[in-house]
Amino acid sequence: MLCGMAAQTRSFHPPERSLFGPGPSDVDPRVLEAMARPTVGHLDPAFVGMMDDLKRLLRAAFRTENAMTLPLSAPGSAGMEACFANLVEPGDRVVVCQNGVFGGRMKENVERAGGVATVVEDPWGRAVDPAKLEATLAAQPDTKAVAFVHAETSTGVLSDAEALCGIAREKGCLTIVDAVTSLGGSPLEVDAWGIDAVYSGSQKCLSCTPGLSPASFGERALASVRERKTKPHSWFLDLNLLAGYWDEGAKRSYHHTAPVNALYGLHEALVLVAEEGLENAWNRHRCNHEALRAGIEAMGLAFVVPEAERLPQLNLVTIPDGVDDAAARGMLLAEHGIEIGAGLGALAGKVWRIGLMGHSSRADKVLRLLSALETVLAALGARIDRGAAVDAARAASSA
Ligand SMILES: Cc1ncc(COP(=O)(O)O)c(C=O)c1O
Repeated sequence: MLCGMAAQTRSFHPPERSLFGPGPSDVDPRVLEAMARPTVGHLDPAFVGMMDDLKRLLRAAFRTENAMTLPLSAPGSAGMEACFANLVEPGDRVVVCQNGVFGGRMKENVERAGGVATVVEDPWGRAVDPAKLEATLAAQPDTKAVAFVHAETSTGVLSDAEALCGIAREKGCLTIVDAVTSLGGSPLEVDAWGIDAVYSGSQKCLSCTPGLSPASFGERALASVRERKTKPHSWFLDLNLLAGYWDEGAKRSYHHTAPVNALYGLHEALVLVAEEGLENAWNRHRCNHEALRAGIEAMGLAFVVPEAERLPQLNLVTIPDGVDDAAARGMLLAEHGIEIGAGLGALAGKVWRIGLMGHSSRADKVLRLLSALETVLAALGARIDRGAAVDAARAASSA
């Protein structure tokens, strides 16, 4: 035995779970299988060919022709940081629309890049109000960029990215869009909506493992990076340096050791999206949300977000009176292997966040979740209409 190695040291085998929280979501077995393939060198010609393929698949998922479309080797937060570190210089004015946790992180990123953030606030649980953005930009004509979260995972809200980008463009501002929870789950049209910089995460609607951040930068964004007077404060996320590794045509040079097997996984996840069809994937997320909604409402629970602003892949649902939040989530996990998310901020203890993302967004899984939730709530003495949820969800699925 090696010196210092504890006698009980052994391999880790995670329990089987069904992931219905705010992410990560269930991973498609084909993705896990792809990740177990042999590691090759990150400048191996075979791997470089896969990288080109991966970029093409990512462009299709983002609906963009942007050459600078790539997976960053770090989670969604790195995509966020890459946008602000590259596009914001000291003194730049950025309007951040905030209606949940992640807008707050955007503001923090603006300030850490030396920029000046103006926050346009909307209540948690409501979409970003385009009229407020318009008024703010009219009052602040020297704004360089507008940033907002398309799909706020902290509150289950989908904002109108097309309208917000239209307003920003009209005022000559760059747009930075967080699409961590929308890519692959809700309509997202990077080119048609004129988005300049967008980032996402591998672990939500793409049925992939966590740890990568697909991102895309348009020509206006790249021009603004080229015109910088100062170097971005992050070496790792400097787009000019990353381009040397990811650019097609350019002679690829070492920047960092790419997470080879994780990229096999993302490649496979994007092949799955292409096989299904992007619009079919959007539709699947919407249909399974409708089934969940029918079941939840039949049980007597309610949705918090107004219908027109709901994010299908993340559902904010009220906890019935008298039910202890942590006890219910604990029972779901221990007795059914099911994870759902807690509410955040002022909503903690009052709501659950039920995610139906990627491989977790399937009709059979919705029924299993509803049936387990019903069992747990009944065991905790909640006054719910027992037996109604699964039938209602089934009926909604076949409608
Ligand atoms: C909307 C949104 N933005 C950013 C992030 C950060 O992504 P990550 O946790 O992969 O760093 C998340 C993660 O849940 C998110 O939901």
